[in-house]
Amino acid sequence: MTPDDAAVGSGTAVSADKPVNLTDPPTLTGLLQRAQAQGLSRLDAQLLLSRATGLTRTGLLADGEQPVAAAAQQQFEHECLRRLQGEPLAYIEGHKEFWSLDLTVNSAVLVPRPETELLVERTLALLPPQPLLVADLGTGSGAIALALAHERPHWSVLGVDRSTAALNVARGNAQRLALGNVDWRCGHWCEPLAGSLYDAIVSNPPYVAADDPALAALRHEPLSALAASDDGYGDLLAIIDQARQHLQPGGWLLLEHGTSQADRLAEALVAAGYARVVCHPDLAGHPRVTEACWPGC
Ligand SMILES: C[S@@+](CC[C@H](N)C(=O)[O-])C[C@H]1O[C@@H](n2cnc3c(N)ncnc32)[C@H](O)[C@@H]1O
Repeated sequence: MTPDDAAVGSGTAVSADKPVNLTDPPTLTGLLQRAQAQGLSRLDAQLLLSRATGLTRTGLLADGEQPVAAAAQQQFEHECLRRLQGEPLAYIEGHKEFWSLDLTVNSAVLVPRPETELLVERTLALLPPQPLLVADLGTGSGAIALALAHERPHWSVLGVDRSTAALNVARGNAQRLALGNVDWRCGHWCEPLAGSLYDAIVSNPPYVAADDPALAALRHEPLSALAASDDGYGDLLAIIDQARQHLQPGGWLLLEHGTSQADRLAEALVAAGYARVVCHPDLAGHPRVTEACWPGC
């Protein structure tokens, strides 16, 4: 913070006839202005100041001249710095909404993305609500598994991840949401599914090429949740191959993928013996989720 920045919103005017008052606490408006001057978006600044003060965003604007207590100011400034250094807001706040569920997140899990809700939507559209077995591979925070378990109380959902730290977050979310129809196993893709056949296997696996420049800028989310071998296809192709041994005849495989990956995945699915291969666009119109039926449908 530069001295000039520090003066913004101090609540004290600097002029020849009015001395600087170093003891006055800054106001809500002053802190918001200062954070924005440092490069934070207006929305992020408001969300972080709401969090630090316990006021609503409307309250911040309505009572802009209210002074801010030292502890709240300290928390706000510390969290602004984290945000300015690129940390996702969800990690700072410790939670993220997905499918209207409030999920705890931390740096062990990818922050659930809104486009992943399409995978949930398609799974619900394809399968009936009666008792079924569904697996979510690479469950992370448990976002997909928990949304499905929440929407379909008669389904038994299994969330799999190779990260025990991620599974601890997912387990905690299930407990907080009091969802009893979801279970968790640690392991590599379909390995933990041995012994049962599933009505659907869904996954949002890592699908970014390891040399993608976007990954170089990644400092907070786990690289292992995003980067995949074989130009980004390694995990998707492994799941397409392995899922065949674990699907009921007529069962569905649903995969989230990168916007340029749909054609190669459709070819791989057909070559592996799947039928009814369809890709769906996300809200931005990008090819995002491909579904395929294991013969019998
Ligand atoms: C893109 S994140 C998806 C997280 C969550 N499903 C979501 O949509 O927000 C991919 C997840 O796959 C997990 N993962 C990566 N390789 C894996 C493997 N070989 N077996 C199981 N899980 C794996 C990562 O730990 C990470 O949690």
